[in-house]
Amino acid sequence: MKTLKFKNGDRMAAIGLGTWKSKPGEVKAAVITALESGYRHIDCAAVYANEKEIGEAFNEVFSKGTIKREDVWITSKLWNNAHLKGDVASALDTTLKDLQLDYLDLYLIHWPVAFKPEVAYPEKPTDYLSPEEAPVHETWNAMLALKKEGKAIHVGVSNFSIKKLDDLISKTDEIPEMNQVELHPLLQQNELMAYCSKKGIHLTAYSPLGSGDRSEGMKQDNEPNMLQNDTITTIATKHHASPGQVLIHWSVNRGTAVIPKSTNEGRIKENLASDSIHFDKEDLKNLAAMNQHYRYVTGKFFEVPEKGYASIYDE
Ligand code: A2P
Repeated sequence: MKTLKFKNGDRMAAIGLGTWKSKPGEVKAAVITALESGYRHIDCAAVYANEKEIGEAFNEVFSKGTIKREDVWITSKLWNNAHLKGDVASALDTTLKDLQLDYLDLYLIHWPVAFKPEVAYPEKPTDYLSPEEAPVHETWNAMLALKKEGKAIHVGVSNFSIKKLDDLISKTDEIPEMNQVELHPLLQQNELMAYCSKKGIHLTAYSPLGSGDRSEGMKQDNEPNMLQNDTITTIATKHHASPGQVLIHWSVNRGTAVIPKSTNEGRIKENLASDSIHFDKEDLKNLAAMNQHYRYVTGKFFEVPEKGYASIYDE
């Protein structure tokens, strides 16, 4: 299994299990299946509203003793309503309690946007805190304090553009170790990748399969289906692999981490096994040609110019 190496020598397994959209009642079994099938990286977030059940899975697996806590890379994310510097530590404490853990391997600022503490999902502009009311570098400093305390071994961000990373980096001595963003052949983000590589920031690819299980409200009309894309299915057939495996391997082959979500035992195993594909030059050329800057998760839902959030991705 490929790994991503961090400056302190820690290694994160490149393929992790995504848990966004994994339903309560299904996610515990999915995490147990994943760990018992060889996954050593689980990606979580407070807002996925399933961390308690994932915590039950961790407790069950780790108490058996065969797989140890320290063998698994566990990520979670700070929700947008806990950006105020006084709220960051207690948000992590809740996540740790829910996940039944003493520490996280990686804690990320989930989005570069802040809500009022009492607002889980904003409905109107006044539900937001402006960048002046909740400066993201102050949230970041609170994240760094958690790292110092050892509650999160590594800290980073998610959904940050080059501009937002640049702004943050200009205000801190310790830069994010990870940026988790949407990445797949239709959204290759080569500039962001080059920028992060230059700065020593790792990338994790979310929605690697196109997140077809998003709620209808989050979908655009006529979304492309990467799992049925001709280039992907042709490469899959050639390598006796599935389209999902081709998409997952595309990320790993580029040197990023990737977090396909599944709650299906067969697909959980299939996704981890994508490690065994080897692309040739022609595959790589055809995959590179798929880039069309298509976002499934547009971020438009958090764009509120009157509160200082004009463009999430600065596009
Ligand atoms: P399921 O959980 O039933 O396996 P993403 O990781 O981009 O968010 O995509 C998740 C979606 O892709 C879910 O609907 C998931 O369904 C489905 N999925 C996961 N693995 C595969 C695979 N190997 N082939 C096809 N669909 C998959």
